[in-house]
Amino acid sequence: MHRLRNKVVAVTGGAQGIGRACVERATEEGAAVAVLDILDQEGAALIADLRAKGRTVEYWHCDVAHEADLRSALDAAAKRFGALHGLVNNAGIAGISRPTHEVTEAQWDAVQSVNVKGVFFATKHALPHFFQAKGGSVVNISSIAGLVGLASVPPYHAAKGAVRLMTKNDAIQYASKQIRFNSIHPGYIWTAMVENHLKANSPNLEAAKAAVAASHPLGRLGAPDDIAWCVVYLLSDESAFVTGAEFVIDGGYTAR
Ligand SMILES: NC(=O)c1ccc[n+]([C@@H]2O[C@H](COP(=O)([O-])OP(=O)(O)OC[C@H]3O[C@@H](n4cnc5c(N)ncnc54)[C@H](O)[C@@H]3O)[C@@H](O)[C@H]2O)c1
Repeated sequence: MHRLRNKVVAVTGGAQGIGRACVERATEEGAAVAVLDILDQEGAALIADLRAKGRTVEYWHCDVAHEADLRSALDAAAKRFGALHGLVNNAGIAGISRPTHEVTEAQWDAVQSVNVKGVFFATKHALPHFFQAKGGSVVNISSIAGLVGLASVPPYHAAKGAVRLMTKNDAIQYASKQIRFNSIHPGYIWTAMVENHLKANSPNLEAAKAAVAASHPLGRLGAPDDIAWCVVYLLSDESAFVTGAEFVIDGGYTAR
């Protein structure tokens, strides 16, 4: 219950899906959590729900594609809670599902702005707070799409592959300051992102969902908590010797 006691953590894209599960589990484990998202209504509802349970949590409107938004939200969170010790770079979009020769420059850039630049901006503006705290933990949510090709969403693959190596480079760069960086590579997790992707690309949602579930050797889709518990571990001192690592949480999808 207290694995994150005295930790202050920011979660981008924390209003729903995997990010929301991270916020729920981290506050449950005693962290004060800053939720950064563009879904203000969902964010407000989540905060109200968690505060009613006695959790310490605050919401900031923040578009991760805008550097100024991230700087001001992270500075405000550190001021509000007295420090910042952890960052979960979770905000992301799936983007266009077309083969490379049909993708426009605007479609490509839209995905990189959120999924790559968002991680860069958040990390950049969290780091001064980690310097002050004399340590920190950054958890970057990449994907199995950052490890293997799926012939599905080219800009997304490029972005998630970039996040994997941004993680390793920063892990080495900041190790001497006790700031750790790790990436998580989820398989298909049942959230709005996957539901919308399947709805847009297949005529029968239930059949598509069953097929995707069956493509994981464990025979099911992941749940947001399957990822959130790994995030709790990586934010906690239990993982004090873990940096530059990639955690593949995919029901065996990439084991073949
Ligand atoms: N669901 C999966 O199967 C899966 C698999 C691998 C990786 N991921 C990654 O996990 C992360 C979370 O995905 P999810 O499935 O929970 O998706 P989701 O669509 O349910 O949630 C994404 C969250 O990010 C927020 N967001 C999007 N753009 C933003 C922006 N510009 N600024 C701030 N917030 C923004 C959304 O508002 C939302 O709250 C993403 O990075 C995604 O790529 C998901």
